[in-house]
Amino acid sequence: MTYSHTLTLKTHYPWTSSPLVSSAPMRLIAASPLAAAVSRAGGLGFLGIGTDTSTFLSLLNEAIATFQASPIPNTPGDILPVGVGFICWGANLSMALSVMQSSPLKPAAAWLFAPRETKDLVAWTEEIRKASSGKTKIWVQVGTVTMALDVAKRCKPDVLVIQGSDAGGHGLAQSSSIITLLPECADALAREQFGDIPLIATGGIVDGRGLAAALMLGASGVCLGTRFLASPEAAISEGYRNAVIQTKDGGVNTARTTVYDQLRGTVGWPETYNGRGVLNQSFRDHESGMSEEENKKLYVDATKLGDQGWGSNGRMTTYAGTGVGLIQSVMPAADIVKEVLTESRGVLARAASKL
Ligand SMILES: Cc1cc2nc3c(=O)[nH]c(=O)nc-3n(C[C@H](O)[C@H](O)[C@H](O)COP(=O)(O)O)c2cc1C
Repeated sequence: MTYSHTLTLKTHYPWTSSPLVSSAPMRLIAASPLAAAVSRAGGLGFLGIGTDTSTFLSLLNEAIATFQASPIPNTPGDILPVGVGFICWGANLSMALSVMQSSPLKPAAAWLFAPRETKDLVAWTEEIRKASSGKTKIWVQVGTVTMALDVAKRCKPDVLVIQGSDAGGHGLAQSSSIITLLPECADALAREQFGDIPLIATGGIVDGRGLAAALMLGASGVCLGTRFLASPEAAISEGYRNAVIQTKDGGVNTARTTVYDQLRGTVGWPETYNGRGVLNQSFRDHESGMSEEENKKLYVDATKLGDQGWGSNGRMTTYAGTGVGLIQSVMPAADIVKEVLTESRGVLARAASKL
């Protein structure tokens, strides 16, 4: 992290605290309540549009109504102080653009993830910049050094989100933990004269220690997904939230797999991606050879059990990262942002006093 990165982020998002704490654009989970709470607490919240661009207008309008009713001081009048996240292999660019163009407030950032090819990202980047007159800044989430360089060269993003393998939900099947990925990306980008792009670390970061560590690795901020699942603002069932709280030892009790996509009928992800979720009975049955047909049938039966269908012995998909074991309780999203920031400052001060 350099002072100029901090300045860039502070200029683009003047209501935010430094270092920047953001919440992931989790499809179907991160709607206006979560994104707005994170931004109001001095972070940057993202709405999860995902692959279904038909949800964009209503998600955006809900957020606009919230901020028109009660604006955040320090926000430029034509900027909506939340970002919007798209999963590019499935989202419809022209639909996204028409919503963006007609919107009275432009989202502060557009988060782009998982294109079929990098060239698709070039179109997304250029067109969103045009549709928002440059007001919507471009964030691209990548999971390898090669992708970070390729995206930097071809899209010149405003921010690169570096996703390590501990991340919950979808990510590259083959990647490394943030502890090596972030500094390797930072070094490679600096060598190629892209050192001015702020980096946001994500994947396994759940508390102030994770934020402090990310700063040491060269990030200017962090993005948390799994941690915000344990907030009342995340649009998930109590069964899901309880499973997140109850799961410990995340390296053993979560896995990267395509099983959950198969069971839920989610098709279309590029082959290089899978998703990290909590191990449950569906996963164990798949591992011990149960047919996909039988497993799907049992999954559908479990959807009728309500909150009882979740957890280690349940079958409902609990996408979450290895950081689950560090999450002890449900907390309002604003308190999570504040606690993570305060804790990181304490950790950094204590570390400095030992030098
Ligand atoms: C439940 C869940 C859903 C997610 N959905 C999306 C999504 O729709 N789009 C996206 O770009 N990333 C998504 N992600 C991945 C996040 O962008 C981010 O990489 C991840 O949450 C970081 O790791 P962490 O969960 O350990 O904080 C999701 C993550 C989780 C946990």
